[in-house]
Amino acid sequence: MTETELLSKKTSMLEEVISGLSQQQKTLPSKFFYDERGSKLFDDITELDEYYPTRTERKILEENVNEIAEYLGEKILLIEPGSGSSSKTKILLGNMENICCYIPMDISGDYLYKVAEQLRLEFPNIQILPLSADYTKPFELPESSPDARKVVFYPGSTIGNFKMEKVEQFLKVIHDIIEDDGAFLIGADLKKEIRVLEAAYNDSEGVTAEFNKNILTHLNKELGTSFNTDLFEHKSIWNEEKGRIEMHLFVKEDHVVGLGEEVINFQKGESIHTENSHKYTLEGFAEMVSEWFEVEKVWTDERDYFSLQYLEPR
Ligand code: AVI
Repeated sequence: MTETELLSKKTSMLEEVISGLSQQQKTLPSKFFYDERGSKLFDDITELDEYYPTRTERKILEENVNEIAEYLGEKILLIEPGSGSSSKTKILLGNMENICCYIPMDISGDYLYKVAEQLRLEFPNIQILPLSADYTKPFELPESSPDARKVVFYPGSTIGNFKMEKVEQFLKVIHDIIEDDGAFLIGADLKKEIRVLEAAYNDSEGVTAEFNKNILTHLNKELGTSFNTDLFEHKSIWNEEKGRIEMHLFVKEDHVVGLGEEVINFQKGESIHTENSHKYTLEGFAEMVSEWFEVEKVWTDERDYFSLQYLEPR
């Protein structure tokens, strides 16, 4: 990145932070969790006993990979927005002979290209074409097999972290990219006992608390803000009306934080709302995607904790 690009990135980050913290209910965009430490902490979360989504989705993929292959078709161009380490995708790449090409996508190019190199060694028969792009906005695919069916794979229930208006935008982008005969394979976390949900986001080892607080450390590093992270306490709460887990950072005492030229006052007891993680019923999910997609097949686990859904465009 050039110096001018870096500066403009920082300016827009600062603007987003000031705008979020100037609202009645203070908020921060959850994308700011993911600096290097935040990504590492998220990986640690996925290993926790209480955090069921990753483990459950992997099991669904492993147990149903042959049937999934049948649904996806004979020659597949697999596209994965936000691919990270591609760890779940390896289950598909390693067990499905019908994938001719894989396009992992991420905003951060360095990590993406490193992972792509490893994938090329591991899966020499699959063309690996990494694409560094922001998948929430329209994007173009690199040249590859024109006769392959375009299938977007979006595991993890990351769609649950989007605001409702962003969900619509994202669904349209995916609908456009796969064209009329493509498919969308997506992970969606399901509603379940509140006790299980809240435990998954308030783990006993405090890893999620570290992950949540890291957003402030990241801002201090990146923007020179003056959050005292010791004054903030992590708590995740189920919001029944909105059908989502909300992550908050509650302030233990009055606190004044400098943000560039601005100053933000925090009063003891108020919170910064840092993330939403929506949970679905199967009917609710089908309804949410219905303008763009039809749900053709759903795989779940024996407890109905998580779902992997095969959608076709309308
Ligand atoms: C990335 N995303 C699907 C995670 C989730 O479960 O909503 C983020 C997360 N936040 C706290 N724990 C995990």
